[in-house]
Amino acid sequence: TPAPPSTMIIFGGSGDLTKRLVMPSLYNLARDGALDPAFSVIGVDIVDHSEEDYRAYLTETARGLAQAAGATVDKDAWAWLMQRTGYVVGNFDDPATYQTIHERIAANEPASHGAVFYFAVAPRFFGPIADHLDKAGLLAEDETEFRRIVVEKPFGMDLASAQALNAQLLRAADESQIFRIDHFLGKETVQNVMAMRFGNGIFEPIWNRNFIDHIQITAAETVTVERRGGFYDATGAMRDMVPNHMFQLLAMIAMEPPNSFDADAIRTEKAKVIQAIRKLTPDEATAYAVRAQYAAGEVGGVAVKDYREEADVSPTSRTETYVALKLEVENWRWSGVPFYIRTGKAMSVRKTEIVVQFKSPPHTLFQDTPTNSLQPNALVVRVQPDEGISLRLAAKIPGRAVRLAEVDMDFRYADYFKREPSTGYETLIYDCLVGDATLFQRADNIEAGWAAVEPILEAWANAPGEIYHYPAGSAGPAAADALIERDGFSWFSLDEKAPK
Ligand code: BG6
Repeated sequence: TPAPPSTMIIFGGSGDLTKRLVMPSLYNLARDGALDPAFSVIGVDIVDHSEEDYRAYLTETARGLAQAAGATVDKDAWAWLMQRTGYVVGNFDDPATYQTIHERIAANEPASHGAVFYFAVAPRFFGPIADHLDKAGLLAEDETEFRRIVVEKPFGMDLASAQALNAQLLRAADESQIFRIDHFLGKETVQNVMAMRFGNGIFEPIWNRNFIDHIQITAAETVTVERRGGFYDATGAMRDMVPNHMFQLLAMIAMEPPNSFDADAIRTEKAKVIQAIRKLTPDEATAYAVRAQYAAGEVGGVAVKDYREEADVSPTSRTETYVALKLEVENWRWSGVPFYIRTGKAMSVRKTEIVVQFKSPPHTLFQDTPTNSLQPNALVVRVQPDEGISLRLAAKIPGRAVRLAEVDMDFRYADYFKREPSTGYETLIYDCLVGDATLFQRADNIEAGWAAVEPILEAWANAPGEIYHYPAGSAGPAAADALIERDGFSWFSLDEKAPK
């Protein structure tokens, strides 16, 4: 069913995010018939385009993107979207811009039922734009007209800045109007964690400290900082990935079952589990948080230079491009179960997955299988790129002797479901248009994430200890192996399904 008709105003209409993600997602929604004929979208930016030039610019990008992906753009669906696409030249700080927006939205009424303001801009504009919208009366809702704002990451740089930003947004709009994007929540497999846990009866009974040994969450990337040196060098892997994406994965895997599928019921459980992450002391922060930077190497046969030689990165930079953490979730279910988290750029493979490792059987029955040679059961949720779930089991090796080996029971998404190409943003944009906030971050969620990493960020800032290096194209620094091996475990191998 198409989303109710509305006007989408994109601040940063000429920017990268709009042309690469937002417009292609709207196109995919249009192609799927998920947008109402009375839907319209207006880009707002300081770049001086005519409306016609703006559409030509979007069309060119869409073609280029499709070509690069070996796809084609459906002419009718694209034309449908372009007929509904407009542009306003305006400065985000100028009240006149908001006057024009007001007129454009009014022109779409009464066919439209609301407006969505998408902040595809640098974070310094988030607060000011919200203030202007509020002053211009553009955020006032009534029974017939909704008003929503969509905010992209980065949502603050630490707890204080995230709280300040939340306070500023909440002065302008109600929490129910604010849709904070964490694009990991748009990934099918991330949503599927809930389906797996709560749509099946067999997992919940064993989903706790009595049966689970530890959990590993990995987001390995092959990309380098590319052209984002300026942003990244001031941010680092911890801020860029952990309190947001990694903690969303952690929340999905560790939260309590919500009472219902209601957005707030789910978000309450997620906030609770993130709030339960134990705050590390400064000493623990040094011991349990490994940071590292990539050095020169090779990723997939392509030479990669040392991080400090990348464009817009300081030659003496101490910013981490990799982080590995050991965390604990202090609640009834997870007490004593370590959560190991790692994420990095310029690594050997692109792989995001969650490994739930169960306890070993209590008694060694099969004497011909050398003690400890078998890895215990593990449930692996593969988020990307090869989406699926596998369960590692022990099985008898054929032959007279009773010897065991590890095997995998494997479910691959691609074997069961066919999917149209998507950017991962479609679900999020559609949900915002229909007013479903389930897959968006509530203020308390964001703040809990920052609160959990704050002690580590502080420890790093106060005692600039060791920053390790790993060659680009490797599986990360040896110090990260030591972090988990100290507890008698090892990281799931990045290259194969089986552990190394
Ligand atoms: C973004 C980070 O939020 O997520 C990037 O800023 C990172 O640095 C990206 O590469 C990872 O997303 P995905 O969807 O490619 O796994």
